[in-house]
Amino acid sequence: MIRISVDRDKCMGHARCAMVSPDIFQLDENGYADMPDDAVVPDGQRVRALEGAAACPERAITAVCE
Ligand code: F3S
Repeated sequence: MIRISVDRDKCMGHARCAMVSPDIFQLDENGYADMPDDAVVPDGQRVRALEGAAACPERAITAVCE
């Protein structure tokens, strides 16, 4: 599995994470990432999670493989 966290201080609302992987990354009503800390993503969605994390120009997303 993989754990995803978004640094809310770094997120600027670019929304690229949700555009690339809408099934994993949710946005709040203002377009900022709205994820629980250490959100668990199953192995079947690992690539999508990493693609969404890599799409963030602010490097606000941390993805840790376990
Ligand atoms: Fe925020 Fe980066 Fe997504 S700035 S909305 S975490 S692409």
